[in-house]
Order: sequence, then C-alpha cells, then structure tokens
Amino acid sequence: MACKNLVILGSTGSIGINTLKVVSRFPEKFRIIGLTAYNNSRLLERQISKFLPRYVALKQKGMDYLRTKIDLKKTKILNVDYDLPELVSRKEIDIVVIGMRGSAALPAFLSAVKAGKIVAPANKEALVIAGDAIMRQAKENGATIVPVDSEQSAIFQCLEGRNTKDLKKVILTASGGALLDVPYEEFGKLTVEEILDHPRWKMGKKITVDSATLMNKGFEVIEAARLFGLRADEIEILVHPQAIIHSMVEFRDGSILAQLGVTDMRLPIQYALSYPERWESPLPRLDFIREGPFTFMRPDLKKFPCLELAIEALKRGGTLPSVLNAADEETVAAFLNKEISFLDIYKVITKVLRKHKVQDDPELDDVLEADAWGRGEARRLIDKDKKV
Ligand SMILES: NC(=O)c1ccc[n+]([C@@H]2O[C@H](COP(=O)([O-])OP(=O)(O)OC[C@H]3O[C@@H](n4cnc5c(N)ncnc54)[C@H](OP(=O)(O)O)[C@@H]3O)[C@@H](O)[C@H]2O)c1
Repeated sequence: MACKNLVILGSTGSIGINTLKVVSRFPEKFRIIGLTAYNNSRLLERQISKFLPRYVALKQKGMDYLRTKIDLKKTKILNVDYDLPELVSRKEIDIVVIGMRGSAALPAFLSAVKAGKIVAPANKEALVIAGDAIMRQAKENGATIVPVDSEQSAIFQCLEGRNTKDLKKVILTASGGALLDVPYEEFGKLTVEEILDHPRWKMGKKITVDSATLMNKGFEVIEAARLFGLRADEIEILVHPQAIIHSMVEFRDGSILAQLGVTDMRLPIQYALSYPERWESPLPRLDFIREGPFTFMRPDLKKFPCLELAIEALKRGGTLPSVLNAADEETVAAFLNKEISFLDIYKVITKVLRKHKVQDDPELDDVLEADAWGRGEARRLIDKDKKV
C-alpha cells in the first residue's frame, strides 16, 4: 500500500492514542497530516514533536499555550470548534480516523464523507443522530466507511465480499459492562470510580459509563442499523462476558460467521487502516483454552433499561435518536461530575424522551435542533433536581 495521509480527530483520547501506536509500527505506510484534541494541550504538544503534523486543532486556551511551544512554520494551529470540516476535506488527506467523542464529531464526519475520503469512525454518537445522512452522503460521494468500533468492525469483516441479500440478522455481542454481576439493588449507591472500573475494555470515561448502563450497546444497535441498513428486528443482542467474539452475522441458510480476537482496540483500528489488506500485528494471539469456556445470555432489560430506550428510539426513528444521544451526553457528564446518581441517568433520559415531540423524516437542521433541545431539557432537569 502506498503511503497514506492521515488525520486523527481526538488523538489525545483512548482511540487516538491507540491509533498512533498502530501508526508508529508502520512509519513507511502513513504520514500524519493532522492531529486534534480538545483541552489536553500537553499531550498534543508531545504528539506534535513525535509525529510532526502539518495541522493541529484544539480549544482556544490550548491554542494560546501551543503558540508559545511549537514551530509555527511547520505546524499550523486550528480551532477545534470550527476548523475540523475544512481540515478533513483537504485534498491531501486519504484517511480520517474519528476518535473524538460525542455528537461534536458530526460536522467533520459529514465533511469527510462529502469529500469522498476513507473514514474510520470509532465515534458512534454522530452515526446515532445522523447516520442516514452520513451513509447517503458517503454513497453519493464515493466515500468508504471502515468502522473502528469493535462490534461494527466484526460485522463489517463478516459481511466483506458477501451479498447482504443473504443476511438474516446480525448478532451484536456485549461484554455486559462493569455491572453484569452487581445486583440491581446496589446500583443506587455506586460511585463514579466503581463504574469506571470496566472489566474488559480500557476506554474513555463517557463510553465506560455508557457500557455500565448498556446505553453503549443501545447506541451500537442504532449504529449497526445505519452502517449496514438493518431494521431493529434484524439485530439481536447477546451478552458474552468473555468479549472474545466481537459480533456475528447469520445468513438465510442458517450459517453463522463470527469475528474473534483479543480485547484490544488496536486490532480493529489496524484493520480499518490496512483495509482491504491485513498486516502483521504484535498483539497476543487468542488462547482458546485459557479464554474459554465462552458463555452467552440475553441482556436483562429490567436491570439495564437504557438498552431498551435505545431500541425504542431506533424503532420510532425521526429526531428521537438525536434526543436520546443528547440527553445521554448531558446526564453522563453530570454523573461524572458527581451532580446526579447512577440511577438518575436513566430517569432523566426517560423524562426528556417522553417530552420530545418527534419529527419524522428530519433534515440535518432538525436533527441538530433536536440535539440542542435534548441537551437543554436534560440540563434543566438536572439543575431542577439539585435545587430540591
Ligand atoms: N475507547 C474505546 O475503546 C472505544 C471503543 C469503541 C468506540 N469508541 C468511541 O470512540 C469515541 C472516542 O472514545 P474514547 O474512549 O477514545 O474517548 P476519550 O478517551 O474521552 O477521548 C476523546 C477524544 O475526543 C476529544 N474531544 C472531546 N470532546 C471534544 C469536542 N467537543 N470536540 C473535539 N474533540 C473532543 C478529546 O480531547 P481531550 O483529550 O483534549 O479532552 C479526546 O482526544 C467515542 O465516540 C466512543 O464511543 C471508543
């Protein structure tokens, strides 16, 4: 493969750091053109000195800091809140890795697909709120989307080169999150620190909380529906605590294909970067004897009702997934900030969803308006509860 020019959005996060680890193993295959952060200017500074990107982006305060620290003739500093759509659509860019979190990734995601790039999204929020628009633009402009999220990567790999007409359903696996074996009665007193202690995956804080509520799995159901053009009833969820099978697809003759691998995000990240090739990897190989036996169970929707909220949002469609995501982003931030309890996450999101007047067949502006409304409404409920 010829040397590819890469932009990594969110290079200072868990996905971004792992992407740079993969890139470091193949210096002849990639040139880093752009790196972006939000606040973490110190880590970005270290990444600049190692990878020499032509562009970096972060918040205004970090821009001011970096200006005094780096060689401005070699690296241009951009504003992360405004300049990402232009950055990812630059002519010299081949691959855009979307490792930033939240719906803030949507403008850059859309811009990258409109520019016909290879897009490797780990970010799921943008696909949840505007997946239809993203997939339509990707098709119209010849963009290639190779998912990084491990479950979507597994489905993508199982479907590769196959006729999707033969697909019966996908089986999305879930590790079950940090609370799989914790009785529901104890959920009310769980601390932020306990929730962040995920048994299988080391990830950013927001997605770790979403994994504990299983909202993350719910988002993945919506994400899979958008990426692979599926209805809610064509997606089954199975809890698989060993998290070795990353997902499966069942074809109409009853055959099932699964993708397995160690629980390390560098595996799906490397595949997204090497696609359609496969390259050597230093990761440990699967040891079936040590990892087994593999077990499966149905998700407990009473214990994890956020999962059901997401499935309902997918079925209802319109602006509801956008409001779901917005309310989740606000409530999880409030939980991490110790403003609300773990159980309040579900309560606040449910209230916001119930109040929303769903608009069908929304345009992008409607989706963004619903996002703003959902955030405002969730914030209002959180602040109201604090006054009581
Ligand atoms: N981590 C995983 O294993 C994993 C697996 C599957 C999917 N995902 C998805 O990948 C995305 C990133 O997850 P993560 O765990 O890597 O998150 P993370 O560790 O919290 O990192 C988030 C990255 O995004 C940047 N960022 C945060 N808010 C931003 C904003 N408003 N605008 C621009 N940049 C912003 C952060 O910058 P600062 O560092 O400066 O704050 C950081 O670089 C999420 O959508 C998540 O659902 C993650």
